[in-house]
Amino acid sequence: MKSARSKGKRARSGLVIAMDGPAGVGKSTIGTMVAKELGFRFINTGEMYRALTWKALEEGIDPTDGDALTRLAKRLTWEFRTVGEGVVIRTHIDGKGVTTQIREERVSKNSSIVAGAGGVRRLLRDMQRKLGEDGSIVMEGRDITTNVFPDADFKVYLDASIEERAKRRTKQLRQQGKPADYDKILDAIIQRDRGDLQRKINPLTQAKDAIVIDSTKMTMVETAEEILKLIRSKRKAGIEGATR
Ligand code: DC
Repeated sequence: MKSARSKGKRARSGLVIAMDGPAGVGKSTIGTMVAKELGFRFINTGEMYRALTWKALEEGIDPTDGDALTRLAKRLTWEFRTVGEGVVIRTHIDGKGVTTQIREERVSKNSSIVAGAGGVRRLLRDMQRKLGEDGSIVMEGRDITTNVFPDADFKVYLDASIEERAKRRTKQLRQQGKPADYDKILDAIIQRDRGDLQRKINPLTQAKDAIVIDSTKMTMVETAEEILKLIRSKRKAGIEGATR
């Protein structure tokens, strides 16, 4: 049998729960619920791509210039700190939190272009692996189950129809008192899906061994409960298998 080490991976003390799925499907909300329940940390890796995109735009770097983006990513000081109850890990660059800035529309529009740069992807992948090396973490993104942690203990591919995702995003923005036009949001989601699915390097795909959950007709709480149920039954089966 191949050991974790033989594939260049370290043995972990806690579980890695990897989640992928398209934009606006609720991975962060659901992933945070799952992490809280398990006493794990949670990270949304999209924030890392967004943080770099924001910094590049601030510095006037062309988001299609992969080499310049990679140089920028190497020059920045990246820190990952848990906030609030110690569950959610937030990205800080050069000593600054960028939670608000990374939600700007120009960042959303350009982040899938930035995420197409191979040098950037390799750098962020290495940081993500480091963050998860000890396990006890829920990590979500587009390539976590396929590229960052192909050996994750539990893999979920979370899906929902495009219309449902646009509906959820519209509702969320309106609840925050922000203007939200359903058609514009739908269009933006279509564009982002296209970028993420058609990217040459590490496009969004369903890992063969991922559990696919279509949450179109489910609430966030129901989806999180479903994932927790599956994790617990897998854990139980693992423990029973090991003691048999
Ligand atoms: O999850 P999000 O929409 O905030 O992510 C922002 C962008 O980063 C999005 O276009 C997809 C990309 N991304 C990626 O390519 N790989 C990841 N692991 C996470 C996000």
